[in-house]
Amino acid sequence: MQIIEGAKVAAQVLEECRQDIAQLASRGLKPGLAVILVGSDPASQAYVRSKDKKCKELGLHSVKLELPASTTQEELLAKVREFNADPAIHGILVQSPPPKHIDEAAVVRAIDPAKDVDGFHPVNVAKLALEDTSGFVPCTPLGCQRLLLAAGVETAGAKVVVVGRSMIVGKPMALLLMAKGVGGDATVTVAHSRTRDLPSLTRQADIIIAAIGRPEFIRKEHVREGAVVIDVGINRVDDSSSPKGYKLVGDVAYDEVAPLCKAITPVPGGVGPMTIAMLMANTVKACKLLHGAV
Ligand code: GUN
Repeated sequence: MQIIEGAKVAAQVLEECRQDIAQLASRGLKPGLAVILVGSDPASQAYVRSKDKKCKELGLHSVKLELPASTTQEELLAKVREFNADPAIHGILVQSPPPKHIDEAAVVRAIDPAKDVDGFHPVNVAKLALEDTSGFVPCTPLGCQRLLLAAGVETAGAKVVVVGRSMIVGKPMALLLMAKGVGGDATVTVAHSRTRDLPSLTRQADIIIAAIGRPEFIRKEHVREGAVVIDVGINRVDDSSSPKGYKLVGDVAYDEVAPLCKAITPVPGGVGPMTIAMLMANTVKACKLLHGAV
């Protein structure tokens, strides 16, 4: 059984970013990322902090904007428009989920598609479906695909079951894996909460992508021997023995599933570090596309 180490693959992605950043710097260019968080959800705060930290480590321009939960739709849209017009900013990300009174889809539509490093804007969703590589692909599925490539997992002709149909992971993951070419060409099935007899479906899979958002949902009865399992879940569950009072577990019951697998990603240390690395890569790509350096 191979443990797919996300931190190692993420370090490779970041090294590629460093080379691009140095090239851009020689032309007087520096990629910039603006991250907007509305409200004070602790997990979202932690993600936003680590995005800002990674930008600074790489020498990217980083703007972290933390707004109160009472921020209105109009105030948020005004900030997005400001960043759209700011030549020092190449990528804009509004942390999801925002508070309930915010119309998230409208906020995403307000982001300039050329700065939509999350790949959530309808133009970028369409480009992914059209296999137009000038668009941005959401960071988490892009990171999962890169992990499969790095681990030497053949996707061409493979049966993949993606469990979860979110716009952030499940849907773009399916589109990426069914696209033509390297890291694609898979036969993809998307399962979700209304899928009948999930275990019999996932047991046919060569590759399972678990993106349901429920702790330890995928158990040994879901997995055939020799399968590859990518665990996208990052769930906080109570743990009185930890100083933080919680621990992170994936969507996969790792201890019982791992022995069956050919390869599996751990939580933490699997998909998590990849998401942020791909965000950096998308921000660098946005800067390169804008300045004609691709
Ligand atoms: N919340 C969870 N994952 C993501 C992501 O990739 N981007 C944004 N903006 N919010 C998220």
